[in-house]
Amino acid sequence: APGAAEFVPDTTDLARLREAACGCHGCDLYKHANRTVFGEGPPHAPMVMIGEQPGDREDLAGHPFVGPAGALLNRALADAGIDRDAVYLTNAVKHFKFTERGKRRIHQKPGRTEIVACTPWLTAELDAIRPQLVVCLGAVAAQAVFGPDFRITRDRGRLIAHDDLRALATIHPAAALRAPDRAEAYDGLVADLTEAATAL
Ligand code: URA
Ligand code: SF4
Repeated sequence: APGAAEFVPDTTDLARLREAACGCHGCDLYKHANRTVFGEGPPHAPMVMIGEQPGDREDLAGHPFVGPAGALLNRALADAGIDRDAVYLTNAVKHFKFTERGKRRIHQKPGRTEIVACTPWLTAELDAIRPQLVVCLGAVAAQAVFGPDFRITRDRGRLIAHDDLRALATIHPAAALRAPDRAEAYDGLVADLTEAATAL
């Protein structure tokens, strides 16, 4: 597959980008998912937050972070004093990757090929919005922004300057839900988001 680049129009108009992304065949993920889930939020948001990929609920609804991980993110944002409506929320990969087990669709982590294939959409969103700060939720988002050597456990929670961007990475809310010590993982997420709010 060719990657998303040839599907990305040369524009900083987010509505046009979103519309074009509906027809993306840049990797194989469009074949089984229901729809492209593009980013959403104010076109000049000071903060862009990047997740991994839409999940089952997002694929059905067509909006990012509307499932269980989104509910935890909402709570963490509120605890960090960040207004979700002021944030542009998107994902590193715009289609849901899953395996079927009976009637259930089980999330599969996107591979390097899919992350690289989808990055032109993320780049176009960042070029259009030019945020003051990018927050990467989890390793997939962080690696889409910083490259494959980024290690979330080592590099989380601190401001990093990268390619004209100021960025900060933290754990993914879904990882906080799965963590053996959920309270500790949640507190770490809130602490990193509080750091992000301070950096605006
Ligand atoms: N997890 C993500 O990374 N993104 C979503 O949109 C939903 C769950
Ligand atoms: Fe295109 Fe990204 Fe969907 Fe692949 S995951 S088809 S690159 S929008």
